[in-house]
This record gives sequence, structure tokens and C-alpha cells, in this order.
Amino acid sequence: MDYRFLTEHDKKSAFQLHNFVHKTLKNPELFLPLIENNKWYFDIKDTYGAFVENDLVGMAAMMHGEDIMTYAEMLGLSWEELGEVFVCVHPNNRKNHVATDLLTMAVEYTQSNKKKYACATTHPENHSIKILEKLGFYRASDSEFLARQKYPRILWQKDFEN
Ligand SMILES: CC(C)(COP(=O)(O)OP(=O)(O)OC[C@H]1O[C@@H](n2cnc3c(N)ncnc32)[C@H](O)[C@@H]1OP(=O)(O)O)[C@@H](O)C(=O)NCCC(=O)NCCS
Repeated sequence: MDYRFLTEHDKKSAFQLHNFVHKTLKNPELFLPLIENNKWYFDIKDTYGAFVENDLVGMAAMMHGEDIMTYAEMLGLSWEELGEVFVCVHPNNRKNHVATDLLTMAVEYTQSNKKKYACATTHPENHSIKILEKLGFYRASDSEFLARQKYPRILWQKDFEN
């Protein structure tokens, strides 16, 4: 498995991978579609990719800025000090610790961007919960807002020590 940052050239593969992961879910509530309100929800330049012979098979991104203001407010943090991470892996490449590797890199990237905190949201039954807990995330909130959403979500937080 090769890992590297994605570039604009990888955008089409990232789009295809994300759509395929979404399309093949048994439970569509587990993972949001890539485009919500006609807008990609992450920046390709803040995304790590996992490759097998030049094929993109997984990716993890850090999202930051005002787009994650809602979660910052729920956590009582300012959006400048927070990065949100997510991960997805092609069904053929799962249970091989690819998501663990990618999320580890995304969290380190978040810290190296001088964020003080990382957050993530998951469906209550998502297998990524195991990875988040291993990486030191804790359940930050089960707020009514997240439970009432179209897709129910748990909000996770990790504190950096810098
Ligand atoms: C969730 C997801 C990212 C996991 O990817 P992955 O590469 O298979 O994860 P890993 O191999 O790193 O697994 C980490 C741990 O979870 C366990 N795990 C992963 N998928 C599992 C499954 N379907 N059933 C049981 N355990 C599972 C692994 O065994 C591993 O445990 P271990 O560290 O004790 O060995 C992948 O299933 C996926 O892309 N799902 C759809 C998108 C999604 O839900 N993303 C998360 C939103 S943040």
C-alpha cells in the first residue's frame, strides 16, 4: 500500500471512490454522500490517499475553517483551533488496517496544522469508532441536534497536547 497526499489530478478518482463507497453501503445512513448542497465537503489538498498500483483505494481528509463551525460551537471551541477528519476505504481493501493508517495520518496532519483539537462524526454503528477510540478520540456529545439529524451521529473529540 502506498500513501500520499492527493492533488487536483486525483479529484476524479476521489469522486469515484467516494461515490462507490456510498453506493455499496448496506446502510446508507453510515456515510454521507460526497456532495451536499452542491458542494464538496472536503478539500482535496488536505486529503491523504492510499494506492494499490496507482489505484486510489482509500482516503482520509482533514476539514477545517468556517465549514466546521457548527461542530466547533457544539464543542465550545473556536473553529480556528479545530480540524474534522473522515475516512473511507474501498470494500475490496477493508480489514487490512488501511483506514487506521489513513486516519492516523489525517490526525497527525491536523496537529501539524497547529490545531488544538480534532473531531469526527460517526453513525453509532460505524466500524470507524474502534479506530477513533484507539487514536484517543472520546465521545464528546450525544446532543439532541445530532440525534435528530437525517443521519444520526455521535460527535468525537481528540485533544492535542501542544
Ligand atoms: C469504516 C471503514 C473506513 C473501515 O475501513 P478498514 O480499512 O476496513 O478499517 P481497518 O482495517 O483500519 O479496521 C480497524 C479496526 O476495525 C475493525 N473492523 C473494520 N471493519 C470491520 C467490520 N466490517 N466488522 C468488524 N470489524 C471491523 C478491524 O478489524 C480493525 O480492528 P483491529 O484494529 O482490532 O484489527 C470502511 O469500512 C469504510 O470505508 N466504510 C464506509 C465509509 C465510512 O463509514 N467511513 C467512516 C466515516 S468517518
